[in-house]
Amino acid sequence: MFLAIEGGDGVGKSTAIAALAAHLREAGRTVLTTREPGGTPEGIALRALLLPKDAAWEPWSELLLMTAARVQHVQRIIRPALAAGTIVISDRFIGSTLAYQGAGRGISTEAILLLHREATGDFRPDLTIVLDLDPSVGIARSTARLARTASNEGRFEALDLSFHNRVRASFLTQAAADPRAHVVVDAAWPVDDVAQAVIRASGPLQKLLF
Ligand code: TYD
Repeated sequence: MFLAIEGGDGVGKSTAIAALAAHLREAGRTVLTTREPGGTPEGIALRALLLPKDAAWEPWSELLLMTAARVQHVQRIIRPALAAGTIVISDRFIGSTLAYQGAGRGISTEAILLLHREATGDFRPDLTIVLDLDPSVGIARSTARLARTASNEGRFEALDLSFHNRVRASFLTQAAADPRAHVVVDAAWPVDDVAQAVIRASGPLQKLLF
């Protein structure tokens, strides 16, 4: 089973993923949590290029580098783990590319999906859980965390609210277009409550697959 957790910046994905992974492990499952961009040494190197505040990537450069990180991740980590029977939970996947490089940056859905199809064999999550939150709340949360941890990331957080509103709308549109493979969870609650909602949301799929 391959699960992706999606949503804007600062929606509480990390807490939800940690709680969901702990829940599944308690039930005896082997679980791998991973993230994009990242997840492999090459992906981590690309992340270090993509996310610093002072980087200045053109939309297409961003798309190609995010896709490069994803190909490494799918081929070297996700597919082998699934083949070994591990449940994989990824913090972001193709939905983020459609939201950020597509709705946010203006690259067409067709171009992004063509690249994804050719590069990964159209590899998709069994279920994508979208955490939905007003970006003005999420960005404030995320910016505060970046400051607290003295992180040099935050290039996307620095973009204006209209960018983040387009990102949010894209996640909701993606979920509405393919309701069998998506669940939307209201993330306007304390992060621990959101994490519990994510565990409940993944329940029906777990029943189906095991
Ligand atoms: P992440 O570490 O999940 O940020 P946060 O914890 O703030 O949610 O993701 C890093 C950033 O990368 C995030 O701002 C979204 C962006 N991103 C894209 O623009 N396209 C992509 O395909 C992916 C995977 C991430």
